[in-house]
Amino acid sequence: MENALQGKRILLGITGGIAAYKSILLLRMLVQAGAEVKVVMTPAARQFVSPLVLATLSKQAVLVELAEGDTWANHVMLGRWAHLMLIAPATCNTIAKMASGLCDNLFMAVQLSATCPVMLAPAMDEDMWKHPATRRNIQTLAGYGYHVLPVATGALASGLHGEGRLLEPVAIMDAVQAFFASSHRLIGKKAVVTAGPTYEPLDPVRFIGNHSTGLMGIEIANALALAGADVTLVLGPTHLQALPVVKTIPVQTATQMLAAVQEVFAETDIAVMAAAVADYRPAAVADQKIKKGADELNIQLVKNPDILAYCGGAKTSRQLVVGFALETNNELNHAQEKLRRKNADLIVLNSPNKVGSGFGTPTNEVTIVSADSVTEWPLASKQQVAHQLVGLLAEKLEQQQA
Ligand code: C5P
Repeated sequence: MENALQGKRILLGITGGIAAYKSILLLRMLVQAGAEVKVVMTPAARQFVSPLVLATLSKQAVLVELAEGDTWANHVMLGRWAHLMLIAPATCNTIAKMASGLCDNLFMAVQLSATCPVMLAPAMDEDMWKHPATRRNIQTLAGYGYHVLPVATGALASGLHGEGRLLEPVAIMDAVQAFFASSHRLIGKKAVVTAGPTYEPLDPVRFIGNHSTGLMGIEIANALALAGADVTLVLGPTHLQALPVVKTIPVQTATQMLAAVQEVFAETDIAVMAAAVADYRPAAVADQKIKKGADELNIQLVKNPDILAYCGGAKTSRQLVVGFALETNNELNHAQEKLRRKNADLIVLNSPNKVGSGFGTPTNEVTIVSADSVTEWPLASKQQVAHQLVGLLAEKLEQQQA
């Protein structure tokens, strides 16, 4: 992979666990890759790794205390200075404090006020890692948009063997490189994304809709824009908003959503259809509010246009079309069938049966289905899933347009 770290500003957060000794190697690798690194550590971390070593390798003072003598460390500006805050190792205690927003030392203040993306590599004993409290805390952090790296399996400080080891510095470096590598890959490319529900009116005050909040699609639009693409987001009714850089076209109905997609589709390189489009709409919309009357009311529905199928049918070999599938049974078969029927390049399958997936949750656990592969991704924040998906799309587009 080309070196994406040259000139990047990284705040390396070190917390107090045995694995902290590996942060010395990690720091050296980051610096060697051309990154400018400042180290901020918890008071407990000083027991495990010497600030003198870290200061020498980073050529910067190591920050531990909020105030020292008459100097106050500006934690807000540190988070604004960095392109990425990387916390390695992140101990069980620090993860719990981060999840509850505690702020009792400089490190905690920095991460709580960081406006840059935050990535963390947890390290702890297996029983702590598997405890429901830690599971919940990890899920909370993923929901905040933190990039939570997995743990490794192997020998633990306790003498036991299992899950909870800090990832090796080389693996952490790979994750950091991948994070930065995706940041400019789609410059000059155009994308259209649909997100949110559609509202199909019955009369002036009622509609048929669904519980979609649009979060997953909005995160995808944001991630495409952050990767440099020119993004149009066709957004059904929701209170959520995309980044200002994303051109948002608000729509209500499936018919309006299709029209807005048709307007831009021919010009786009990537189309991601993440909207939860109503399959049917009322055949007629009453001019006035429908009055309560008989004990039964029959509403005739007609089929809505399938926007994903439209894109699949119209696409050229230089365009990538991605659809979503939310299935409750026989999930993989349905997703594969959908991929073929709608002529999509990828289907992102999310299962509402999995904990932490589906409508309104900040996290998602998805399976990526293409004509020749099925890949399960672990539970992660929707933001992280979006970044990972955009990385994959950038890679596919580069191959396709080469
Ligand atoms: O057929 P189904 O609704 O399960 O397919 C889901 C996928 O198709 C999603 O990507 C969704 O955005 C898209 N879709 C669409 N237009 C419709 C129905 C679904 O674009 N009318």
